[in-house]
Amino acid sequence: MRIDVFTLVPHAFAWLTEQQPIAGVLGGELELRLFNYRDSTPLRAGQVDDEPYGGGAGMVLRVDVVAAALDAAYGGMPEQRVIALTPQGRPLTQQVVEELAEEEALTLLSSRFEGFDERIVAHLCSDAISIGPYVLSNGDLPAMVLLDAVARRLPGALAEGSGELESFSAELDGALEYPHYTRPAEFRGWTVPEVLLSGDHARIDAWRREHVR
Ligand SMILES: C[S@@+](CC[C@H](N)C(=O)[O-])C[C@H]1O[C@@H](n2cnc3c(N)ncnc32)[C@H](O)[C@@H]1O
Repeated sequence: MRIDVFTLVPHAFAWLTEQQPIAGVLGGELELRLFNYRDSTPLRAGQVDDEPYGGGAGMVLRVDVVAAALDAAYGGMPEQRVIALTPQGRPLTQQVVEELAEEEALTLLSSRFEGFDERIVAHLCSDAISIGPYVLSNGDLPAMVLLDAVARRLPGALAEGSGELESFSAELDGALEYPHYTRPAEFRGWTVPEVLLSGDHARIDAWRREHVR
């Protein structure tokens, strides 16, 4: 899969690319390309934003700047899905993640300031996604959230079996995973459920199914 991210801060993604599971699939199952709107802006001095029509605080990411960035990267509109990260988008859920992980390529558009000129979302994007009902300062963290969630669904990203049985998975009927414990078996009087120490896999499995949340 190839994921292209358009941003004003490509270097912000450096940390993410060093983290597992992304680091493990980069260069293999995942190709990540980072584009800076300023590198292809048709405006002078690297300008990418402008004052909102109608007045008001803040600056708005310009439609001609985003169109130029897509033109420079793809020679026109890309065939793959182009996703604007915006609080007005449809909520990112595990179901959406699974759907996106099936794609061969994705384009993610990050904004900042007051957000996108609405024509970017209406005419240059196929999707708009929100990572939650709150406002962040820019779309880079949302793009990284989406990237991480999609990358861990790619073949080879996770140890065998660990991606199938987890919160929101079909295996758990979309529920939240059961609690986990590790050594020590007792700490400050806080004990681990006896069944998990029993070695009886049928009982452990039954206990886990009962404790899905
Ligand atoms: C400060 S926000 C703009 C908020 C916008 N003025 C509003 O009131 O909805 C700047 C950018 O951060 C990104 N962003 C902020 N919160 C987000 C969220 N919950 N999901 C996805 N992207 C978000 C978007 O790219 C957005 O255009």
